[in-house]
Amino acid sequence: MSTEQLPAALIRQAQRSDTNDLIEIYCSNGFLAFSPSRPSRDLIAATVVSYLDLLESAPESITFLVIGASTKVLGFSIARMAARRVWELQIGVHAAQRSQGIGGALMRRIFTEIRSRGPGQCEAIVHSNNAASIRIATRFFQSRENVEALPGYVKFRSSW
Ligand SMILES: CC(C)(COP(=O)(O)OP(=O)(O)OC[C@H]1O[C@@H](n2cnc3c(N)ncnc32)[C@H](O)[C@@H]1OP(=O)(O)O)[C@@H](O)C(=O)NCCC(=O)NCCS
Repeated sequence: MSTEQLPAALIRQAQRSDTNDLIEIYCSNGFLAFSPSRPSRDLIAATVVSYLDLLESAPESITFLVIGASTKVLGFSIARMAARRVWELQIGVHAAQRSQGIGGALMRRIFTEIRSRGPGQCEAIVHSNNAASIRIATRFFQSRENVEALPGYVKFRSSW
């Protein structure tokens, strides 16, 4: 199945068997190009496992979605509840599968999920040179501001 045919119905909650695919997405070409740090593969693996742990131990504090064709996961979106009912949002699509609408589909679904959990706010921090991410965030968030503590980064916000 080509990604153009991927229905939104292929978006589902992440599960343990997705771990390796999720690590591959984080390690795929250019994924961390605009990240303030360069985590090792081991640290990425530990982070993915910690999100999956949270999904089991405190599901009210995280939404973790993936999109897949057959058994392969192509992208993910994560919203984690920080203080004051602020959801911190993160999204990623495997480098080989970008620019085909997958990121937009994941963004639409994660906003639907977190809005369904009651009044709240959502934030995402993006590097101003990360053109695809700026484009997608501009479509879905209500406002943006510069991050004083992180020069070059923009914080997007929405509330409902
Ligand atoms: C950001 C990211 C998730 C987008 O995923 P995607 O599947 O390529 O997104 P889409 O195909 O739905 O495209 C989203 C928008 O970005 C635009 N876009 C895609 N690639 C682009 C690029 N290289 N340059 C500029 N715009 C681009 C698309 O045209 C689309 O715009 P539209 O909504 O006006 O049609 C993906 O590039 C990615 O994983 N990047 C690395 C991780 C990252 O930076 N995450 C964001 C920080 S949380």
